[in-house]
Order: sequence, then C-alpha cells, then structure tokens
Amino acid sequence: MTDWKPDIANRHGRRYLAIADALADDIKRGLVRPGDRLPTHRDLAYQMGLSVSTVSKAYAEAVRRQLILSEVGRGTFVMPNAWTDLTGVGIDSRQIGPIDMAFNCPVPAPMVLEAMSAALKTISGSDRLDELMPYHRPWVGLASHRAAAASWIEKRGLRTSPENILMTNGAQHAHAIILTSLLEPNQIAVTDELTDPGIKFLTANRSLQLKGLAMDKDGLLPDAFEAACKTMKVKALITVPNHHSPTLTIMPVERRKAIAEVAIRHGVTIIEDDVYGPFLDNPPPALSSFAPEQSFYFTSFSKCICAGLRIGFLAAPPGRVEELIPGLGATTWMVSMVPAEIAALWIREGTAERLIVWQRQELTRRQKLAAQILDGFDYTALPSSLHLWLPLPDSWRAEGFVAQARLRGLAVTPAEAFVVGHVPAPQAVRVSLGGATPSRTELQRGLEIVADLLKERPAATYLVL
Ligand SMILES: Cc1ncc(COP(=O)(O)O)c(C=O)c1O
Repeated sequence: MTDWKPDIANRHGRRYLAIADALADDIKRGLVRPGDRLPTHRDLAYQMGLSVSTVSKAYAEAVRRQLILSEVGRGTFVMPNAWTDLTGVGIDSRQIGPIDMAFNCPVPAPMVLEAMSAALKTISGSDRLDELMPYHRPWVGLASHRAAAASWIEKRGLRTSPENILMTNGAQHAHAIILTSLLEPNQIAVTDELTDPGIKFLTANRSLQLKGLAMDKDGLLPDAFEAACKTMKVKALITVPNHHSPTLTIMPVERRKAIAEVAIRHGVTIIEDDVYGPFLDNPPPALSSFAPEQSFYFTSFSKCICAGLRIGFLAAPPGRVEELIPGLGATTWMVSMVPAEIAALWIREGTAERLIVWQRQELTRRQKLAAQILDGFDYTALPSSLHLWLPLPDSWRAEGFVAQARLRGLAVTPAEAFVVGHVPAPQAVRVSLGGATPSRTELQRGLEIVADLLKERPAATYLVL
C-alpha cells in the first residue's frame, strides 16, 4: 500500500473534489502509479484530519473519473490506464509490471548483436567513415543508402527507385515528415478504426482531425472510406495493410485495389505504414502500388530486427520526394548516417533478411506456445505475428481484465489504447509475444495468467455507493 497523502492546502472548493483533483495530478506526475494500492478510507481520513465520509466521497469521485477501482476485500487501486488517460500518451512505460506483454518489439536475437558488431568493425575500417560524419546533401540520404532502401522496399511489394527514397530515423519519423510536409492544422486524416497510438499522438500534435473508419476481417472498408470522402474534405488516409496492429488483418489484393480506387477518385493522399510488412514472407503488392502517384509508403527495422538502430525507409511517388523536405527540416534535417550505413550494409549483404527469418521463426515458436496455453479460447494470431488479439468473453470488460492482469504482475494493452475518438472500444486486449518478454519462462507465465483470467469470472470490481 502506498503512503499517498494528497496536498490540498492550496486547493479551493469542496474537499472531496480537491482530493480527487490532487489524485489526478499526482498520477500525472508519477507520484502514484497504475496498480498502486491507495490507503484505506479510514487511514487517509485520519492522516488528513478529515471525516471518513469526505474521503469516501473523494474516492467515489475518483472511481467516477476512472482513476481508481475498488475491489471488495482487497482495497483501492490506481487504474492501469489512469496515467495514459490523463496524459494522452498512448503507452505508459511505467505501467509495465514484471511481465510486459503490452509492448510490441522484436525478440532480442544474439544474431543481431553479432551482426551489429561485425557492421561496426566494417564501418570503422572503411574509408567511407569520414563521409558519414558531416551534414550531407541531398538531405534525403546518401545515394548508396537510398539504393539499398529501394531494393528493400521492392522486396516488400512496391516498385520504386532510389530517386524516390527518403531515409528516416524510423517509421514514426516517416509519419512526422509526411504529416508535417503535406497537411495543414485542422485538415482531416482518416485511419483504421483501431490504430497505432503513435498515429493518434502525432496527428493530435499536428492539430489534425483524425477520424476512424470501420474495418472488417480484411481491414479498412472501402465503403466507409468512400462515405467519409463524400461527407468530409479528407486529405489523407493513414493505414497499416499488413499485420495491422492490433487486429492482425492483412488487406487482400482486391481490397487494396478498391481502397486505392476511392483514394484516386477523391484525390486523397495514401500514407501506407508497413512496419509489420517484413513479417510476411511473400507479401501482397503494397497498397501504394495501386495509386503510385499519390501514395507515400514506409517501413522500418524497428519491429522486425531491432528498434535501437532507428532506421526507416520512405518511398515517395515519382518526382515528389522534394515535397517532404519541409518535414525533414522541421524534424532532424537528415537521417543519422551511421545507422543508415549499417542498414544499407545489412540489406546488401543479406544480413537483414537473415535476421528477419530468425525473428519470424522465433515468433512462430512463441505463437505455438500461446496456442497450447490458450487452447480452447478464441483469439486472432498469425503464424509469425508479434502479438495476438484477444476478444474477451462476455463476462469480462477490457479495463477490468487489464487491471486484474496488472495486479498479477502482467501488462497487456486494452483495445481502448487503439481507439480513435470517442467511439466505444471493443472488449479486447492485445497480448504481445515479442522482446519485451525476452525469457520463455516469463512468456509462459504471462500466457498462463491470461488463460487463468479467461477461466475465472471477474471479481466484484467496482465500488458501488
Ligand atoms: C503501426 C506502427 N507504425 C509505426 C510505429 C513506429 O515505428 P518506429 O519505431 O520505426 O518509429 C509503430 C510502433 O509501435 C507502429 O506500431
């Protein structure tokens, strides 16, 4: 139990509201953390020299604001999502319990370390080293890096050429460059109804309006896209056609054609985020290939090899790469040269492909373990996907499930984190099987907690007054 004691000396108005406000501020500042158990009503009342009923009213107010939950016989706990909700940041790294199955990142491979140390040796002995040190022009990247990136993107299903490539410091940087360069504040971007929290964060940061579009088992629905284009001035579509997170949809070719056709008819820019594409051995043609004049495609090494290299590859439509210079200038001027050199080397030598094959194989082993432990429960997974998507049985709501998992030391992500706007979130959670849980023992334990919870009925979770 924490010894949290709110400071309400400088807060005016009713005492119980002041306590609830102080709690919200203290959660935001990290003084109390998701999962922390708060003092009992009686203890806090005693500490603060207030009546128990004032503290009870304050806690009830905090329950109403979804900051805390009370479990009969167990106590009052800070909600797992409280920090995220209050700060608007998608994923709270401080929420992470001993077992982290909330964070989607690749499994750390010994091979990556070996490849990295070999690449650093090659670079340090190379006469190109001094070329990597200064600012360089063109800002979009060195010719050799752009050539390697173009060949990498072609393997992912998009024909492009080095002149169309812009090197980035990861996929989030690619998003930032495109949005900053091509969209003005208040313009409308549409996206999958469940989307990467990073996309929500960036669009909000750019003061864009982000609208979610309905999806089915094949991804974004062309009719929903068409309807949005008819009723709003849609400037851009942001979508993840491969291994969509969290739903794991892979958009079939016919669906890609239909979406591209709507985009062409309404003059909407396509922003195709393919961070998960490298998990597909034999990917379908990129969505961008069906609307090549107006599509910006990118991928990165973050999900499939290692995130620390911070490298991404962006393909602009022919003749349009210069349009992205404002966004590049507004962010980092140019990509970091040493990671770009390593990435280009890995692509040319086939190392990148080998590292991804290892990653896919390891994830396939992890998915098999999940299939054994979650046998009998309905969930969506792909043979080498980084996570699984688990719609919950009727008896569970996602927030209660996440809270219970958190109390048992397991972090998973509620659907709420991916919802765009105020539409209700599905009662589902994303369970990551990747590198945030490096050991198999931990992974097994985490999956067992998930299975146990699914078998149980939720505890009487909410305080009812
Ligand atoms: C769909 C999607 N796009 C982009 C990113 C960011 O990728 P990067 O680490 O390469 O910036 C993420 C990270 O979670 C993601 O899930």
